[in-house]
Amino acid sequence: MEKILVTGGAGFIGSAFVRNMLNWYKDVYIVNLDKLTYAGNLDNLKGIDEERHTFIHGDICDYEVVAKALEGCDYVVNFAAETHVDRSLMRGAVDFLRTNIEGVYQLLSIGKEKKNIKKIVLISTDEVYGSRDEGSAVETDPVNPRNPYSVSKCAGELMGLAFYYSFHLPVVITRGCNTYGPYQYPEKVLPLFITNALENKPLPLYKGGEHNIRDWLYVDDHCKAIDLIMREGEPGHIYNISAGFEKQNIEVTKKVLELTGKDESLIQWVPDRPGHDKRYSMNSDKIRKLGWNPLVSWEEGIERTVKWYKENEWWWKKIKEGEFREYYRKQYIDRTEKT
Ligand code: NAD
Ligand code: DAU
Repeated sequence: MEKILVTGGAGFIGSAFVRNMLNWYKDVYIVNLDKLTYAGNLDNLKGIDEERHTFIHGDICDYEVVAKALEGCDYVVNFAAETHVDRSLMRGAVDFLRTNIEGVYQLLSIGKEKKNIKKIVLISTDEVYGSRDEGSAVETDPVNPRNPYSVSKCAGELMGLAFYYSFHLPVVITRGCNTYGPYQYPEKVLPLFITNALENKPLPLYKGGEHNIRDWLYVDDHCKAIDLIMREGEPGHIYNISAGFEKQNIEVTKKVLELTGKDESLIQWVPDRPGHDKRYSMNSDKIRKLGWNPLVSWEEGIERTVKWYKENEWWWKKIKEGEFREYYRKQYIDRTEKT
């Protein structure tokens, strides 16, 4: 059995990775360590093969917990993070610094003590390159993160590289683009807009940012890329993971309205995100040379995704009734009233 420590495996991409890995390989065992913050959710793991999965409720900043979880593991894949840009801007970023930098440091330090780890994969983001008007970033381009979230992710990456250079720890870094699919916490634009449309509620589009561009990658394709890099990625290297499906926010919004059968009167213009990055774009030739390609087109992925949220109200309705309600009021209603 191959044993993989997945951290943040109760979140959106982490839970998809756990589910997929258990389906793709019969000889994989997953140890899943997650703090269950507001974004972590055991519902995301319903129905997985419990015989090859152990869940540990814990924090990647906690030495004892991580050291125990890592025992006998061949690989570590770190998804654990604070991930929402708006929260890092509007709600304080201390938790981002703690998990995304200190937590990564803790994982690396403990990893360094264990001699049998084949690879430590740090899941990072295209946001570390910052915004670019034209062209696509390659892995050797300078970083230029411009919001507290992306700065914290960038610092985590650099710490990983420091452990590679200083101690030969087999660290690899992935930089993924905007990912979407089932089980994504509905603070991110796609699940927020889809579920709001299904509830006949306004879709709060950032005014001035409607032509900003993101590159959209279906979650299972992101997981395939991470699996490949975990196995074949070269230590000390960075790999961009991008689909090449670049869309303006207004196009994404209109697509959601079309697929939910609603009209544009649901669009609500709200104050823009401070320092809103205009466009992210990466060149992914390096991972494509290893044999990866996205298999799910934007059209197919968004149809599947809307269908999933339509059919799984049980999953998102209770989330939108909890902590989320207060967050939504502060993020959208209060900010709009102030302008
Ligand atoms: P998410 O917010 O859905 O999940 C994050 C998970 O990490 C949650 O389950 C949470 O409980 C857990 N967590 C947070 N702090 C923790 C801690 N201190 N210890 C243990 N667990 C902790 O995030 P996501 O969207 O699935 O993103 C996963 C990773 O992928 C992140 O590192 C993110 O930066 C990166 N990423 C995300 C995207 C995207 O579009 N969603 C794109 C590129 C990269
Ligand atoms: O690019 C990868 C990154 O993608 C990940 O590293 C982050 O963890 C993930 O959250 C995501 O960041 P973004 O800021 O790009 O995603 P978000 O869904 O928050 O916003 C996407 C775009 O939609 C962005 O241009 C802002 C806009 N937006 C977002 C929200 C939540 C709106 O117009 N209205 C909204 O209500």
